[in-house]
Amino acid sequence: MTQKYVKAVISDTPDEAALPVLEGALGPSAVDIQTLYARYGLLAYDPGFRSTASCKSAITFVDGDNGVLLYRGYPIEELAEHSDFVEVAYLLMNGELPTPEQRKTFDLLIGQSNLLHEQIMNFFRGFRRDAHPMAVMVGVVGALSAFYHDVMDIRNPEDRMLAAVRLIAKMPMIAAASYTYSTGRPQRYPNNRLDYSSNVLQMMFGQPNDDYPVDPVVARALDRILILHADHEQNASTSTVRLAASSGANPFACISAGIASLWGPAHGGANEAVLKMLMEIGSVDNIPKAIARAKDKNDSFRLMGFGHRIYKNFDPRSRVIQKSTHEVLSHLGIHDPLLEIAMRLEEIALKDDYFVERKLYPNVDFYSGILLRAMGFPMNMFTAIFALARTAGWVSHWLELQQESHGIDRPRQLYVGKAKRKLPTKK
Ligand code: ACO
Repeated sequence: MTQKYVKAVISDTPDEAALPVLEGALGPSAVDIQTLYARYGLLAYDPGFRSTASCKSAITFVDGDNGVLLYRGYPIEELAEHSDFVEVAYLLMNGELPTPEQRKTFDLLIGQSNLLHEQIMNFFRGFRRDAHPMAVMVGVVGALSAFYHDVMDIRNPEDRMLAAVRLIAKMPMIAAASYTYSTGRPQRYPNNRLDYSSNVLQMMFGQPNDDYPVDPVVARALDRILILHADHEQNASTSTVRLAASSGANPFACISAGIASLWGPAHGGANEAVLKMLMEIGSVDNIPKAIARAKDKNDSFRLMGFGHRIYKNFDPRSRVIQKSTHEVLSHLGIHDPLLEIAMRLEEIALKDDYFVERKLYPNVDFYSGILLRAMGFPMNMFTAIFALARTAGWVSHWLELQQESHGIDRPRQLYVGKAKRKLPTKK
């Protein structure tokens, strides 16, 4: 078969063969290929979706070439400095920052929804004690759909908003309980006198029979981590949530699907993988060996926390996390040799031709593991904290999708299997 080609010519004058080019508010334009198959009998082939805009969205903008990340137009660095996670969640969901009155109502709603139904605690008890917190979260968040299914009408905007608020409100206790269950410690409840991140800390680390004085520097650092991880446009887990939601599925089940997708080491599991890698490297002297392994195509070892599908420049979140890591470690008086290894590794990799040519820069996960560990989080909770934060983005995309009318998502394929054939007759 001879290889055929399609030549794309961008023109200002429409003709019969032309496909429209859609302009976004920022970033690259997109060829509208919705009529491609109907008009030409052709499908678009884009495994990994490197050149596919799967939807229109007004929530988050990423410019990977210039290292820019905006939530509803606001730069991530400014939000990390001047906002807090609950305000950011409101912004992502509603499109604008809350007025003081709206913020008060939002806080109140979260305070009213942050407890778990006591029967939900039975689900935790059904897991093996050594279950990974992400496995527990996939199960428990999915199980929430059994508690709010019949009473919720996703065609009703008020019901939709309530489901979104419930998810944001309940996630701290779910994440905390997925950890405390493994330790055998009874679970503390949320305290409505505390802010969102302080509540995560007191439920994670506090004992029910004693006070837990939250360190404000640690709480602020956690809040910043949550802001940085709150959304990142159409990544694997968000696309998973949207795909699941396109069928009209229950929102708790959709978010559970997103948690499953986030778990992998190429996505949310990377900060855990970074820490394991730094421990394996063990000392600054072993860095050249690790770099050589990462460059060796016959070795599956990759420099975890380096590279990103979209960022071909510094991930703006990595700089904020790096600064926060230094602040928290110095505040807590921790000297972590892994930080030294990470900094040296970054320095060497950024000067190495292999990483420079491929535009591989540190991503958000490169320092976040060191920071979370300094704050007391066990390694297997890192991705759970990411899931807690990303819930704000997932529900915002879920809300946005409900207002669209393109129906169920149904990708096609390039079939490369057997042509039709006859079943052999059995002897
Ligand atoms: N270490 C060594 N080489 C790398 C790395 C890495 N971390 N990342 C990419 N490369 C190389 C690839 O081998 C490839 O080399 P080649 O062109 O010689 O074949 C080239 O760089 C391009 O790699 P791709 O896999 O095409 O890059 P892609 O954009 O698809 O991958 C990914 C992005 C998956 C994040 C990748 O960089 C990676 O595996 N990084 C480590 C895991 C990680 O940190 N993930 C977190 C992502 S951030 C997040 O989810 C919040």
